[in-house]
Amino acid sequence: MTLRIYVPADASALSVGADLVADAIAAELAARRIEAQVIRTGSRGLFWLEPMVEVATLTGRIAYGPVDVADVPQLIPALLEGAPHKLKLGNPDAIPYLARQERLTFGRVGVIDPVSVDDYRAHGGFKGLEKALAMKPAEIVEEVVASGLRGRGGAGFPTGIKWRTVLGAQADQKYIVCNADEGDSGTFADRMLMEGDPMILIEGMTIAGLAVGATQGYIYIRSEYPHAFRTFGRAVEACRKAGLLGTRIAGSDRDFDITVRLGAGAYVCGEETSLLESLEGKRGLVRFKPPLPALKGLFGKPTVINNVLSLAAVPTILADGAKTYADFGMGRSRGTLPFQLAGNIKYGGLVEKAFGLTLGEAVHDFGGGTLSGRPLRAVQVGGPLGAYFPADYLDTPLDYEAFAQRRGMLGHGGIVVFDDTVDMAEQARFAFEFCAKESCGKCTPCRIGSTRGRETMERVIRGEHIADNLTLIEDLCRTMTDASLCALGGLTPYPVTSAIEHFPEDFDRPRAHRAAAE
Ligand SMILES: Cc1cc2nc3c(=O)[nH]c(=O)nc-3n(C[C@H](O)[C@H](O)[C@H](O)COP(=O)(O)O)c2cc1C
Ligand code: SF4
Repeated sequence: MTLRIYVPADASALSVGADLVADAIAAELAARRIEAQVIRTGSRGLFWLEPMVEVATLTGRIAYGPVDVADVPQLIPALLEGAPHKLKLGNPDAIPYLARQERLTFGRVGVIDPVSVDDYRAHGGFKGLEKALAMKPAEIVEEVVASGLRGRGGAGFPTGIKWRTVLGAQADQKYIVCNADEGDSGTFADRMLMEGDPMILIEGMTIAGLAVGATQGYIYIRSEYPHAFRTFGRAVEACRKAGLLGTRIAGSDRDFDITVRLGAGAYVCGEETSLLESLEGKRGLVRFKPPLPALKGLFGKPTVINNVLSLAAVPTILADGAKTYADFGMGRSRGTLPFQLAGNIKYGGLVEKAFGLTLGEAVHDFGGGTLSGRPLRAVQVGGPLGAYFPADYLDTPLDYEAFAQRRGMLGHGGIVVFDDTVDMAEQARFAFEFCAKESCGKCTPCRIGSTRGRETMERVIRGEHIADNLTLIEDLCRTMTDASLCALGGLTPYPVTSAIEHFPEDFDRPRAHRAAAE
């Protein structure tokens, strides 16, 4: 058996030297004339252990990490003969952080070669597509409705219902658009999936095409993701070569192909209508709704637009059945949520788990608390427009409705942790500043309101007429919520008002203005 060694090529691992480690391993093996395959994978999402190197043995894979180039000469005997090594982690699937997860979407990430059709298929890939090819479009749509899948991109709208609308629309051309703009703070699940298992997304987009009668898909990948862009493009090429994209896919009489596009580099281009404008080659301005993109979307045609994680959940739903998927989760939040632990956290990474785990379990049981070791003070969930929760909200289950009840939102599942050194007035100021920078400028509450909000918050921070200025902020937030055209302006009050409500002491003490919140 040829020795197989796995080294991640995910951006997180690359940032801490994975390429150098892979090169050092290859050089060391060549010098010792040892025949081996060094396979580049995605990341399993245990970032404090990256680069995590694995070797295939007769009893399964053995992991070592975090590996530095200087560790490589000593590591080779361990990889070859199982000799003891200080970085040995054992069977990666048995590491508690991974063992406690329920990976329906991320099961292959970090395990397979992301651009190998054979590897994907050997690990259960394309089963969903095979089933979909034998079904009528409406049957596929109803399977997705029955799974209870809700959009993972932020709003949580039921995916199957959206597809039903596109299926029912009459048009000569329909489109599938994958939103891979992933601009929320603390989020990286879309990127990890595109770098670690892009074919699950290709399969999901193809099934969506079969479901609604679309023959062309587009994926819009944020410009800050060059590795994801490259890996996804290579995976599309490999699928095309294998007859899984293009005309008569998988030997059927159906056509579907995917075009890969790099985004424009603005947060608002993640908003679906703005993304469509950008895809059409125009400036990323938000469109009025209605008409919904489902009826009049890309190039004016009926369009399914879904997040990466929504589309990537579909192959599993088709392969294992809607009920199996829906059996995970709680209430109206069915299936699993790949949530992301970031900020001041000891064990940052990707955790896929059924909805219902509490925020505290995510942050403490998986994340190990703050990296600084200082007391946790605030957690922001749902990106830069998400609410700040205080430590006594850690009992909130990760569930769309439970978060909404506490005036928060789950969004894309990004969890950003802050310790007790955080200044919440600075965070509130930053929310306005972020909105001002990223506003598309189409409507006044967002374009002007965000700038006035930042200025007013700066006056609060300087201790000028605090009570009056906070009343002004309250009024401004109400206007932004009620009168903004899209959720960028409409949700900016979430971080602002939650910070004021839960951390009032930070708004009642004059101090020198610091611009360090970001
Ligand atoms: C300002 C703004 C930014 C957004 N950014 C993203 C994004 O990066 N990725 C995403 O999938 N959805 C994003 N959304 C949500 C999309 O508009 C849309 O709801 C989503 O792509 C629909 O897919 P889903 O139903 O699968 O969630 C954003 C929304 C707003 C208002
Ligand atoms: S709320 Fe902001 S981003 Fe949204 S349409 Fe209005 S100006 Fe544009």
